[in-house]
Amino acid sequence: MAQVKFHITNNDEYREAYAHSVAQPEDFWNHIAGHYNWRKPWSKTLEWNFEEPRVRWFEGGKLNITENCLDRHLEQRGNKIALIWEPNDPKEMSLRFTYRELHAHVNRMANILKNLGVKKGDRVCIYLPMIPELAFAVLACARIGAIHSVVFAGFSANSVADRINDSACEFVITSDGLNRGAKQIPVKSVVDEALETCPSVQKVLVVNRLNWPINMKTGRDVWYHNELMHANEQCAAEEMDSEDELFILYTSGSTGKPKGVVHTCGGYMVYAGYTFANVFQYRESDIFWCTADIGWVTGHSYILYGPLLNGATTMMFEGVPTFPDPGRFWQVIDKHNVNIFYTAPTAIRSLMASGVDHVLAYSLHSLRILGSVGEPINEEAWHWYHTHVGKGRCPVVDTWWQTETGGIMISALAGISELKPAHAGLPLPGIQAILVDAEGKEIIGNDVEGYLCIKYPWPSILRTTYGDHERCRINYFATYKNLYFTGDGARREANGMYRIIGRVDDVINVSGHRFGTAEIENAINQNKKVVESAVVGYPHDIKGQGIYAYVILADMQQANNHTRDEIIESVVEHIGRIAKPDVIQFVSGLPKTRSGKIMRRILRKVAEGEFSSLGDTTTLLDPLVVDEIIAGKQN
Ligand code: WTA
Repeated sequence: MAQVKFHITNNDEYREAYAHSVAQPEDFWNHIAGHYNWRKPWSKTLEWNFEEPRVRWFEGGKLNITENCLDRHLEQRGNKIALIWEPNDPKEMSLRFTYRELHAHVNRMANILKNLGVKKGDRVCIYLPMIPELAFAVLACARIGAIHSVVFAGFSANSVADRINDSACEFVITSDGLNRGAKQIPVKSVVDEALETCPSVQKVLVVNRLNWPINMKTGRDVWYHNELMHANEQCAAEEMDSEDELFILYTSGSTGKPKGVVHTCGGYMVYAGYTFANVFQYRESDIFWCTADIGWVTGHSYILYGPLLNGATTMMFEGVPTFPDPGRFWQVIDKHNVNIFYTAPTAIRSLMASGVDHVLAYSLHSLRILGSVGEPINEEAWHWYHTHVGKGRCPVVDTWWQTETGGIMISALAGISELKPAHAGLPLPGIQAILVDAEGKEIIGNDVEGYLCIKYPWPSILRTTYGDHERCRINYFATYKNLYFTGDGARREANGMYRIIGRVDDVINVSGHRFGTAEIENAINQNKKVVESAVVGYPHDIKGQGIYAYVILADMQQANNHTRDEIIESVVEHIGRIAKPDVIQFVSGLPKTRSGKIMRRILRKVAEGEFSSLGDTTTLLDPLVVDEIIAGKQN
């Protein structure tokens, strides 16, 4: 077999790499992992079974991911820009940090954390807006072996508290407030409220973003800028085992509360760096901009770790696509000469709706490659992106992956693979994707549709869900024997290319954000007037999926807009603004089977406005409920 190369440069090399990765997975990953700096080599490449599940990569290997992200570039790229920060308000100055400067900032933050008592293995909740200190904080945790748990700064106090308590975080890093378009939003007060129910938290480190007067609790809260004055800029990296935990990231599943997906140091590093280099065909002088928030996995892997592992220049953006106007993305691309741009279909669709003039006002000549992530991209959005943003010359890579996968799984390689609008394409080397039927039987051949599963481990597969391994097993490994089940349905077309259809479980994807229907129902049910609710997704022009809630009230006399507002408030309070229902329909009953199970299939059809194809309703306890729901919707 041919020598394994880290960088794939043409289709033959992709095919060779893929074939090698399937025929000799351990040999393949040994070569890829050898591209990184390890303090001590691993003794066993892979140990796995999907029954427990137990997956261990590069066992015995010692490393620190920040040495690979920072220290190893200092000699060659010390003065190269590692991080560009673009503020919310275009009138404020953008900031640039060289690798040497970023290294110093991370070390100082690491020393501050150490001074506060943070040790290897401690969990640190990071609840920060998209400011440079967020990047410093994430890397500082990794530097000293603390496990970061970043919580998106749009989540409510309840959600923050749940996440802190689930992994018993001892430390929180936050800010006074945040900028979001024309608005300034409190952050520290959300943390204060959350911490009323978080006994594990000892210290809170607060970054000053807005100069807001905030409450600082003596003995618990400390200002970052005060600590910075006596923080040394040298901090030796903690030696980590390949399988030591690197981070926890909470994500929604179909049942219960969000779960803490756990990634470990070695495998995650190997895969994040490898996929960044190849999917985006990164070149040394490229400026890379991923518009995600670091609060989501996309930001973890492709704003921070993936680019920095490759010595790239990565950008983080504090603002929103529509402030001060819908040309903001394109203006930023021209301002910083961005070469690779990675965003979500929902952003593209919302900018499409504002008209093409906002794009045409900018040159965008620096762009070479475009990417899409987070949800299926519809063909119309794909073409608009390709034509108006990419001027027809930039390949669009539609990258399918998940919080649980740690890195991109199915995608074209930019400029190398065949592109087909709305198709993610072929699996990356090391990814043995298959489709199965409802019984878990593999569906062979092309031009077929089924449940998307992966049959062999890749280095950044989730290791567990924090504190609850059984849940990890049930969620991902128990549906189909010996397979990792993604929760997505997909088609495999004539040439082996995959087209992702979407979730087949009770997860809805709203503007690229995942919510469990149970989670939203739970928030709605907190309202005292509510007896029961059922939430489903429905097609939404901009968001991809909207949230449709059917709600039964104790007193149907109160079925009015005031109650609707209260219910929305309840969701905002328990989850956050991002989970607000788009439609609330009051109903007197829900379609249930005789055993009491809600038939969501019917509710989904009604929400979609498809009344003619409801399927078999004879097993329902009360088939008349369906007629009433349809009548209520039409009103
Ligand atoms: C969906 C985001 C179609 C999918 C990285 C998956 C996609 C869920 C795509 C994971 C894509 C992500 N095409 N669907 N290119 N990328 N998804 O954990 O349903 O926030 O299961 O990770 O988003 O969302 P998560």
